[in-house]
Amino acid sequence: MGKRKQLKLGAIIHGVGGNVSAWRHPEVPVDASVNFRFYTKQAQIAEEGKFDLVFIADGLYINEKSIPHFLNRFEPLTILSALAAVTTKIGLVGTLSSSYSEPFTVSRQFGSLDHISGGRAGWNVVTSPLEGSALNYGKPEHPSHDERYKIAEEFLDVARGLWDSWEDDAFIRDKESGVFFDPSKLHRLNHKGKYFSVQGPLNIARSKQGHPVIFQAGSSESGKALAAKGADAVFTGHENIEEAKRFYKDVKDRAVANGRSRDDIAILPGVGPIVGKTEEEAERKYLEFANLVTIDKALEYLGRFFEHHDFSQYPLDEPFPELGDLGSNSFRSGTDKIKQTAKEQNLTLRQVAIRTATPRSEFIGTPEKIANLLQQWHEEEAADGFIIYSSTPEALRDFVEEVVPILQERGIYRTEYEADTLRGNLGLPIPVNRYAVAEVRG
Ligand SMILES: Cc1cc2nc3c(=O)[nH]c(=O)nc-3n(C[C@H](O)[C@H](O)[C@H](O)COP(=O)(O)O)c2cc1C
Repeated sequence: MGKRKQLKLGAIIHGVGGNVSAWRHPEVPVDASVNFRFYTKQAQIAEEGKFDLVFIADGLYINEKSIPHFLNRFEPLTILSALAAVTTKIGLVGTLSSSYSEPFTVSRQFGSLDHISGGRAGWNVVTSPLEGSALNYGKPEHPSHDERYKIAEEFLDVARGLWDSWEDDAFIRDKESGVFFDPSKLHRLNHKGKYFSVQGPLNIARSKQGHPVIFQAGSSESGKALAAKGADAVFTGHENIEEAKRFYKDVKDRAVANGRSRDDIAILPGVGPIVGKTEEEAERKYLEFANLVTIDKALEYLGRFFEHHDFSQYPLDEPFPELGDLGSNSFRSGTDKIKQTAKEQNLTLRQVAIRTATPRSEFIGTPEKIANLLQQWHEEEAADGFIIYSSTPEALRDFVEEVVPILQERGIYRTEYEADTLRGNLGLPIPVNRYAVAEVRG
């Protein structure tokens, strides 16, 4: 995949939106975050557009200052299982925390989703940035950023081992002889590590794509290291193409240093295209959202990334305050970037808050302009594909009807699904069962 010929697309379904005030927009159903019909419609629009996947994000702690979508939303595995029944080809990817779960349970859950969907499951392994998560799981404290990534690495090793518990031909199910399975094809992991002790075997077999596809979304040094070692794809976010190219090269180089090929890992930045028939119409649509965000709401939104810091205590029109280490144990890569940009560009607190709460991406304009940009990012090795954020339900429809056909005409995006598994569509190999390999070698 160093550079795939065709770009890949995912749609994040995010209820009433990632914008702190998006729910007030006339086109947004106020209950979208807990409305199954809304999720079904979005997933089906994405599937009409031949998207590789839909993505459901998640978090484990809320308070009064959380954005509306986070206050009242579906748990990812539950909604993805329901979406499996109303879609046929599109991949179903959800966030689940490695800091606040047990590998045996998580492997079962994704193993089950993978079977229910016929090989379309993907797991976004996150380490959970929010300190308050510890309060909901009876933990004395939120593990440090570095430790969370160490836990994630061991967690993923265990999950992969558990998914190989059964060789693909283990289940004989011969009614005549009464033989249900071949015990020699059943394997116990017997894992004893620093964080987990798991005997196995797992009580569900591999699906037709072998293992669920592994996504990773942290962009810090530890996040990139984890991705390079074992992720199939990376979700990321960049303000411009130069930054995206640096990230892309960095992660691909690290994958190669881990003995992997550049094609083994797909880099998928999130973008929020706003399509208009004219530049002016697109700009007007952007402003409809941006203008809904008051400065108070923007400050609250900014605060969440810095452990819910109260930014209302500072003067708005003076340089962004000095925050020391605040934020580095939660959204580290994000908060580092905010601090750095504020310093480099000499931004005031008001400017930082507004830019964070209503980011103005360059993907705003006519369908041709947006298609050109996507193509440029793809060709110049800034992205293997994109996760599309849509501001309203209609924004995803606009993208599918107006931008997708241009990408298809240019031959850089599929007109039909190549496969009916997520791995197949992403062009990823099916992982060989570690025990079957051992037998061949042995
Ligand atoms: C595109 C993207 C999507 C993310 N989705 C989630 C998510 O659904 N849930 C979550 O807890 N964290 C999510 N994160 C946060 C990261 O997983 C990570 O916890 C956070 O960025 C801090 O780690 P880092 O310093 O390595 O980036 C996301 C990050 C990015 C860039």
